[in-house]
Amino acid sequence: MGFCGNGPLVEIDSQNKLYEKVKPEEAASIIEAIDGGTATAATGDLDIPFFSKQVRIVRETSGKIDPERIEEYIAVGGYQSLHKSVHDMTPSEVIEEIKRSGLRGRGGGGYPTGLKWATVAKMPGDRKYVICNADEGDPGAFMDRSVLESDPHRVLEGMAIAGYAIGANSGFIYVRAEYPLAIKRLQTAILQAKKYGIMGSQIFNSGCDFKVDIRVGAGAFVCGEETALIQSIEGGRGNPRPRPPYPAVSGLWGCPTLINNVESFANIPAIIREGGDWYASIGTETSKGTKVFALTGKVRNNGLIEVPMGITLRQIVEEMGGGVPDGQVKAIQTGGPSGGCIPASMLDTPVDYESLTRAGSMMGSGGMVVMDETTSMVEVAKFYMEFCREETCGKCIPCRTGTVQLYAMLTKILNRQANQKDLAKLEELCCMVKETSLCGLGTGAPNPILSTLRYFQEEYLELIEDNSNGKVPAIN
Ligand SMILES: Cc1cc2nc3c(=O)[nH]c(=O)nc-3n(C[C@H](O)[C@H](O)[C@H](O)COP(=O)(O)O)c2cc1C
Repeated sequence: MGFCGNGPLVEIDSQNKLYEKVKPEEAASIIEAIDGGTATAATGDLDIPFFSKQVRIVRETSGKIDPERIEEYIAVGGYQSLHKSVHDMTPSEVIEEIKRSGLRGRGGGGYPTGLKWATVAKMPGDRKYVICNADEGDPGAFMDRSVLESDPHRVLEGMAIAGYAIGANSGFIYVRAEYPLAIKRLQTAILQAKKYGIMGSQIFNSGCDFKVDIRVGAGAFVCGEETALIQSIEGGRGNPRPRPPYPAVSGLWGCPTLINNVESFANIPAIIREGGDWYASIGTETSKGTKVFALTGKVRNNGLIEVPMGITLRQIVEEMGGGVPDGQVKAIQTGGPSGGCIPASMLDTPVDYESLTRAGSMMGSGGMVVMDETTSMVEVAKFYMEFCREETCGKCIPCRTGTVQLYAMLTKILNRQANQKDLAKLEELCCMVKETSLCGLGTGAPNPILSTLRYFQEEYLELIEDNSNGKVPAIN
């Protein structure tokens, strides 16, 4: 149900009742309460904004069906979109529908999904691949894990529709080893789908074949980057390579490859079922549909939420999240290690790709961390830089040495050993690493520093020795 901070939750559908933080010894009284008894467990409220402001497309059946039984997915209309695609639509009609929906990649970059599908479909050759990126390495993010654990068939259905649309009969799900339950449920789901003739050869007695294999990653952040991920599936070291060529042109084993995020695929069945125009009616002009966020940090209600694009940060944090328990919001971090910190003064920023980028952050894959006045923003920048320093693959010099140096500079500042020259150098090095790194890990790594320098410069100045002498560096 997503209301993780108050779990374990028990919902009694027929009575529209919710119990929170349920203990094993309270279970019996909850059953008795269905027949008029009194439950000893604490009751929750299903009408609070945390639930009522959500629009659930990706998570429409999460928590409502048993993810280990394909029959339950089929009973709520599951696999009908795949059936409709292979029997009633041509591959280009499927792609047209995805284009019309305006869906953009949910893995961080926001590239238009329909356009990517069309590019792979146009490529010559009869060996093409579909890859589902379930690496999910951002600290604090667990959206994709939750989708895979609660509704694995939805992701498989999205992948199979993609396979039909682009002319691929083989797919891989790349999922990190730290997600054993997701892996187990995916394995079960694949076996069940095969048994029903939904996966494998001649799916739904059509002329199409589609099979999915799982590849387990060892849990390196860089392996979420598409070219590194492909290298890892091929059995090589997970290092990125320059693009172009993009995977759509030359991907897995040199073949045209469609790579999309878990949430991107999980949107597909609903788009085919309800139509691209329906999907495009939700959200903003340039960011359509919904986005799943992992709302965490200093906020009363934390957990997973699926919200329509265009909702403001204020609505998410103050209404859905119930605000900061003791004190005020200071900043909101979105976009993980490549994202940035948006100050409380900008809480009315709408959640869409462009607005978040303009604010110096990014949509990212869906991590959203709320910080209160007790948080040191320089410490926050150091936390993310430490992560990038640990996770850099070392292939390109700007990222390999830049993240180490940036981390050292932040440590110096926090130890009150830095001066204004160091602050200017910090910004200069951020720009260099951003502009010259090989992949998104390096180009995004300076963002948490740059955004905190932009909005919380005074915290850096307070920490430097000689902030009363000389000129304060110009910071954009
Ligand atoms: C360092 C790094 C890590 C990434 N990690 C992920 C990830 O865990 N999951 C993901 O879907 N995309 C990740 N991406 C983005 C992928 O490279 C790729 O753009 C994405 O899988 C494409 O899918 P989409 O178009 O559906 O978003 C990462 C990119 C970088 C640079």
